Amino acid sequence: MGAPIQIEQLSHRFHTRDPWVLEALSLEIASGESVAIIGESGCGKSTLLHMLAGLTLPSAGQVRIGGRTVQRPDAAWNMMFQRPGLYPWLNVRQNVALGLQFTGQTDSLKTRVAEMLALVDLADKAEAPIGDLSGGQQQRVALARSLAVGPEIILLDEPFSALDAFTRRNLQLEVSQIARDQGITLVLVTHDIDEALTMGDRVVVMGRAPGTFRSVLPVDLPYPRNPMQPAFGRQREALMARFRDSVAPQTTRDQPAPTPDHAQLELAHG
Ligand SMILES: Nc1ncnc2c1ncn2[C@@H]1O[C@H](COP(=O)(O)OP(=O)(O)OP(=O)(O)O)[C@@H](O)[C@H]1O
Ligand SMILES: [Mg+2]
Repeated sequence: MGAPIQIEQLSHRFHTRDPWVLEALSLEIASGESVAIIGESGCGKSTLLHMLAGLTLPSAGQVRIGGRTVQRPDAAWNMMFQRPGLYPWLNVRQNVALGLQFTGQTDSLKTRVAEMLALVDLADKAEAPIGDLSGGQQQRVALARSLAVGPEIILLDEPFSALDAFTRRNLQLEVSQIARDQGITLVLVTHDIDEALTMGDRVVVMGRAPGTFRSVLPVDLPYPRNPMQPAFGRQREALMARFRDSVAPQTTRDQPAPTPDHAQLELAHG
């Protein structure tokens, strides 16, 4: 099962004399919810994700997961990066087993690994060396390794950006489905607007210098989502408009000019 995440007045700079990288971020993410984060390069998305994972501590404010302040990484909060981070000297099965071994969940290790490999459709590759797999297959091994430990939270930092369009789309749908089936809370950083709309219950748009949450768009579309559908296209327009606003100077944030897209969106969401 998932856990709720509370981001409370989170601010960060890497050195005391540096400008703030993140400023006063606040957001509540429900248990089992899926939130996508988009924003210009350098706005602080990865920094934020590292804080959710307990890999970086904030200069001010806090992150709470399941009510507890995050102070260090936890095996129940799983982070997947752009590259799958597998061990090439181990085969597929051994890579998937690693998370279970690290967390001491070795009781039914063999069965669990087999289940996970079946889940990501790699049962026939169990004994294959990592180097023999395609990029998409390697991402699926990383995914199986993450899921094996029964995580409460999965944090994804542009995990599919190196993949071809078809593989990417399949994995977006698969990961989204698995997270919903298992009630896992998902936070996804991406540059891809369709990916955000395919996987997010809500999409957060960040502004930069300093990084702030500029707007939050609820995505009111049934799963599995299809970018070819007109309703998806309307959400894409709305999100693009918000993204354009986020790139505009900060002053426009305080008093955003209503655009037709916003008007449409507000209508759509009452
Ligand atoms: N360890 C660090 N020390 C100092 N500055 C850092 C460090 N890591 C990141 N930064 C700075 O913080 C800002 C945000 O970086 P971050 O990697 O979080 O951006 P991002 O939104 O993930 O960008 P991208 O979309 O390109 O991945 C950038 O200006 C970056 O230079
Ligand atoms: Mg980044």
